[in-house]
Amino acid sequence: MQKDSIFRQVRRDWRACFERDPAARNALEVLLAYPGFHALFWHRILIHPLHRLGLPVIPRVLSNFSRFLTAIEIHPGAEIGAGLFIDHGSGVVIGETSEIGRDCTLYQGVTLGGTSLRREKRHPTLEDRVIVGAGAAILGAIVVGAGSKIAAGAVVVKSVPPDCTVVGVPGRVIYQNGKPADPVLPRVDMPDPEGDAIAALAQRVEALENVARKLEEADGTTTLQ
Ligand SMILES: CC(C)(COP(=O)(O)OP(=O)(O)OC[C@H]1O[C@@H](n2cnc3c(N)ncnc32)[C@H](O)[C@@H]1OP(=O)(O)O)[C@@H](O)C(=O)NCCC(=O)NCCS
Repeated sequence: MQKDSIFRQVRRDWRACFERDPAARNALEVLLAYPGFHALFWHRILIHPLHRLGLPVIPRVLSNFSRFLTAIEIHPGAEIGAGLFIDHGSGVVIGETSEIGRDCTLYQGVTLGGTSLRREKRHPTLEDRVIVGAGAAILGAIVVGAGSKIAAGAVVVKSVPPDCTVVGVPGRVIYQNGKPADPVLPRVDMPDPEGDAIAALAQRVEALENVARKLEEADGTTTLQ
């Protein structure tokens, strides 16, 4: 990932608030009242550099303090490109080995989480200009391609090609390059307990109907069609 100076990164974050939040009124308001900007500011100028120096404990304590102030949890190890906009922010969690490209947007409640318990790359990589909607979870060491949009509430556990729109649980690609997605595009195979339960019930009802039909035939009655 190409790196800007810390100053450029902070300036780009600050601009991103204006570019991507129609509610942003003026510079002072963003400086004083945008928790997403504050969390990123402390991550960039202090917490992440201390983590890179290998300092134990202190970066985690500072990131916890930043979380206390902003309700946004960014692990000190997360690599974040310039121009990230975290809108509202409450409940955002960015895991240790997450990598975020330039000019991405995260809404409140987004989780960039891990699925492995090993000390390895276990969090997602977002390429440039990815948008992740409120409450979405992107889990595991997967890659979300540049310009893709993850819908509010989606759960994504497989890599997503560039310029896609992904919706639902499990996340599935519904648009790629502005066109309805080819059905062979990656879909996430996750257990569907509700669907399985409904299918099992339908089978059971059919079996019971067969039994009832046989009893009626033996009885000479016809209630079931
Ligand atoms: C997914 C999203 C990025 C798509 O935006 P878009 O490219 O403008 O596309 P559209 O709104 O035309 O929606 C495309 C399709 O996805 C569906 N869709 C949109 N959002 C969805 C969601 N969260 N979950 C499931 N389906 C969704 C739409 O119904 C539409 O379906 P259709 O093609 O069958 O009509 C957007 O809906 C979204 O969720 N953005 C996040 C916004 C957010 O979190 N805001 C918080 C502000 S506080």
